[in-house]
Amino acid sequence: MSSKSESWGSRVGLILAMAGNAVGLGNFLRFPVQAVQNGGGAFIIPYLVCFLLMGIPLLYIEWASGRFGGKFGNHSTPYILDSMVKGRVLKYIGVFGIFTNVAVAAYYCYIESWTMSYVYHSLSGTFEGMSQTGVAEFFNSYVNVAESTTGIPYEAVIFYILCLILNTFILSKGLGGIEKVAKIGMPLLILFGVILAVRGLTLGTSGASDLFPDANAWDGLNFLWTPQYSSLLDLKVWMAAAGQIFFTLSVGMGTIHCYAAYIKPKDDIALNAVSAGFMNEFVEVVLGSMIVIPIAAGYLGLDWIIENAGFGMAFQTMPYLFQQWGPLLAALGGLFWFGLLFFAGITSSLAMGTPWMGFMRDEFNWNRNKGAWSFGALILIMGLPTVFFYNQGVFDEYDYWAGTVSLVVFAMFETILFSWIFGMNKGWAEINSGADIKVPLLFKYIIKFVTPILLIIIFLGSLFKPINNDWSGNFASLFSGNGWNLDNGSIIKTLTHAGIKEQIAMATDNQVIQ
Ligand code: PHE
Ligand code: NA
Repeated sequence: MSSKSESWGSRVGLILAMAGNAVGLGNFLRFPVQAVQNGGGAFIIPYLVCFLLMGIPLLYIEWASGRFGGKFGNHSTPYILDSMVKGRVLKYIGVFGIFTNVAVAAYYCYIESWTMSYVYHSLSGTFEGMSQTGVAEFFNSYVNVAESTTGIPYEAVIFYILCLILNTFILSKGLGGIEKVAKIGMPLLILFGVILAVRGLTLGTSGASDLFPDANAWDGLNFLWTPQYSSLLDLKVWMAAAGQIFFTLSVGMGTIHCYAAYIKPKDDIALNAVSAGFMNEFVEVVLGSMIVIPIAAGYLGLDWIIENAGFGMAFQTMPYLFQQWGPLLAALGGLFWFGLLFFAGITSSLAMGTPWMGFMRDEFNWNRNKGAWSFGALILIMGLPTVFFYNQGVFDEYDYWAGTVSLVVFAMFETILFSWIFGMNKGWAEINSGADIKVPLLFKYIIKFVTPILLIIIFLGSLFKPINNDWSGNFASLFSGNGWNLDNGSIIKTLTHAGIKEQIAMATDNQVIQ
């Protein structure tokens, strides 16, 4: 059995593991789509403000809470919170920090398994000579498990199981295994990312293919990076920006607490937390915006992107665009792109396994093997509905509850607990103990007042999300006596059966991507 004093092998290992936890599919698949759907340059300012006022504070709160709990031999959020507020029922809030991971891992590992399969298909030349529609249809038949016209029967299920076995095996090796994967995966991810970004930036300004002679790779970048102030008053853009910050930094989940619980009590967190956080932001805003967007803009044009922005761009469009480079470079492009996504994914899904393992160890003294394989089995059971009913909106349901709502709820409670119940003076001392940098005092006040207030606003905002996400229209309607119409995606409406049914119907309609 692992000893209670297990800890990270080195500082580099810790930072890469934490950065690997944060850098994930969210950086490459979610960020560009959120940015495009929320007006490009209009999204960036709220996004950066949310990073400063909620992202960094939550990183500090979670790193500090985790290292604090670790001193008492605790490795999961219920126990870590218990060590901070002895004897109070608040520790049950920590259950969020286990549940969320299991539910997110179930659909996250499914996408991760697609990246494995797509590496295989890119190398074996499956996409050679396929039209854009052909590549898109390949994806549709891939996720339509029973149909499985991609050659291997039940291919999606097979890759999903392989992916889970791989995750479970690495988890069973403990922190050392996670550290090793991060040390190999993160540098490769950055290398692949830089190569693809350079390709994106050199596609030029005059239609990379004769298909759309006006297409211009730089249009995509200009769209993202020209700030627009008009949307600063649009609550919808702020909510989307905050949601992206939570998801991308992996805050509000419990994974950071768990990783931080293995930091030695006297080691720095102040510098490490921002280093890992900034590494994630570099990969997100630099690499995340310089691959899909300029490459798609170069071949298909900006209008196409704005119209088709979605998750499918990565799987339904990229393999086709790579084909324009000739067979050899297309195979390499596919290897780099899906390989990058795979490393981004696995270093994050490993993080999602640790809260469960830590809890089973704290509560039942389970060893690593038992912890890891029970996690794998649980994810398999929870994930099969997303695999078999992908086209029926199950996936979106998981993402909504686990990947969106639950993060905000947990982040709100843990912030209040840290700054007001544990107490901000104690909290500040904890953040600064062993610190290798001086954290600006301003953050003490941000963490105490600004972060919790913003989180409460966002929580209320998602409870009462108005119809069509039209905030100004609904405020006008409210003040003119016409009431407030809840959106089907608002938590309140979703909690009623009708909301769920309508949402699933909508998800099914939107499902298939151009
Ligand atoms: N931050 C990861 C991403 O950007 C997702 C993640 C969330 C990982 C929560 C671990 C925990 O993809
Ligand atoms: Na991320």
